[in-house]
Amino acid sequence: MTEIQILDKTFTPYIEEKQIQHRIKEIAEQINSEYEEKYPLFLGVLNGSFIFASDLFKNIDIPAEISFVKLASYKGTKSTGNVMTLIGLDDSIKDRNVIVIEDIVDTGKTLIELRHALEEKSPQSISIVTLLDKTEARQHPVDIDYSGFQIENLFVVGYGLDYDGYGRNMKDIYQLKS
Ligand code: IMP
Ligand code: MG
Repeated sequence: MTEIQILDKTFTPYIEEKQIQHRIKEIAEQINSEYEEKYPLFLGVLNGSFIFASDLFKNIDIPAEISFVKLASYKGTKSTGNVMTLIGLDDSIKDRNVIVIEDIVDTGKTLIELRHALEEKSPQSISIVTLLDKTEARQHPVDIDYSGFQIENLFVVGYGLDYDGYGRNMKDIYQLKS
């Protein structure tokens, strides 16, 4: 792996495809044993998680469903700022064991909002699986049930993660060159 250029920035190799795939298999095994007979509903958070969600789900061998949601930001009418609205959830999640699939948890804001939005719909349980966890960047405490890699507070792209929309199609994960 060598340096790559995305738009105006240079990125260097950080986590290799092989490592990612290996770790995904470990997480899937854990979920397979912990969710047997629970008929979990996986909810991938678009756009960033679509590749991770796909690879993770291929390694799930218990009965399970998958769907995708998106969080849209709307300018609030009040001075409290932006309100996030959940879109794409067509079917009921009432009494379901939901497993949210995220690409990366940074400040934690997204997950807090998402969890609140899901809790209103009375699922039986909600757990979170994220490929990457920037622990140092956390501003809102969130419980993460399954985490692929804890990473430093740096900007990463590839494997679904983007820089200004680009770089999602890289098989490996790259970090911004400082
Ligand atoms: P949070 O709400 O601050 O936790 O931000 C989470 C979202 O920000 C993720 O779902 C990503 O879409 C995006 N994000 C955070 N860090 C990175 C990064 O290093 N690269 C690409 N996207 C990121
Ligand atoms: Mg995201």
